[in-house]
Amino acid sequence: MPANSSPWFMGIPRLKCPPNTPSRSAMKLEEAWHVFLTSKQREETLRPRMQAVDLGAAPGGWTWQLVRRGIQVIAVDNGSIAPMVMESGLVKHQTLDAFGYIPLHPVDWMVCDIVEQPRRIAQLAAQWIAKKWCQHCIFNLKLPMKKRYDEIQLCKALILAILAKTKIPYRLVFKQLYHDREEVTGYLSSKQPL
Ligand SMILES: C[S@@+](CC[C@H](N)C(=O)[O-])C[C@H]1O[C@@H](n2cnc3c(N)ncnc32)[C@H](O)[C@@H]1O
Repeated sequence: MPANSSPWFMGIPRLKCPPNTPSRSAMKLEEAWHVFLTSKQREETLRPRMQAVDLGAAPGGWTWQLVRRGIQVIAVDNGSIAPMVMESGLVKHQTLDAFGYIPLHPVDWMVCDIVEQPRRIAQLAAQWIAKKWCQHCIFNLKLPMKKRYDEIQLCKALILAILAKTKIPYRLVFKQLYHDREEVTGYLSSKQPL
């Protein structure tokens, strides 16, 4: 279906890995932004001086993608963040458990690449939107070997149930990205950008 088709020829994204990127995971976030947002929406939602929280940030590929756009990032992970990412001066590293982390004030973005049970990640993403801790969220669901479709449906139902208790309008989409076949990436947003 045209509405559900890839923006790239044969579905293969022609994205360049940022120079000196701390991890190839960085490509996943870049691809997700291209899949879920139009170029106008990217301009609108990824602006310098915006704020983000990166849950499970080490070694810092996703944080680096945010920093490259001038976005300030709180990087939550017990692991270390690459020195070049810290040297940007835009990153605050918090060695905390992402599941207990509460932001001091609302942020524009929460991104999450933690290897955990998909349903836990889905609940975490829904909680961030339901509590208005962020406006946009990109999260990866690391799928089990079997019953992958069922797991995604379950995650979707969990998110819908949490958000049904709020009056928050939202957009939820999932996509299997070219840069990671073992995962499904979700985009959840309470603010529909232009
Ligand atoms: C796949 S790696 C993230 C890679 C990162 N997105 C990048 O681009 O470099 C997953 C990270 O999640 C972290 N992690 C796992 N459980 C966590 C938790 N409960 N709280 C915070 N971080 C966690 C791990 O330490 C690991 O660094």
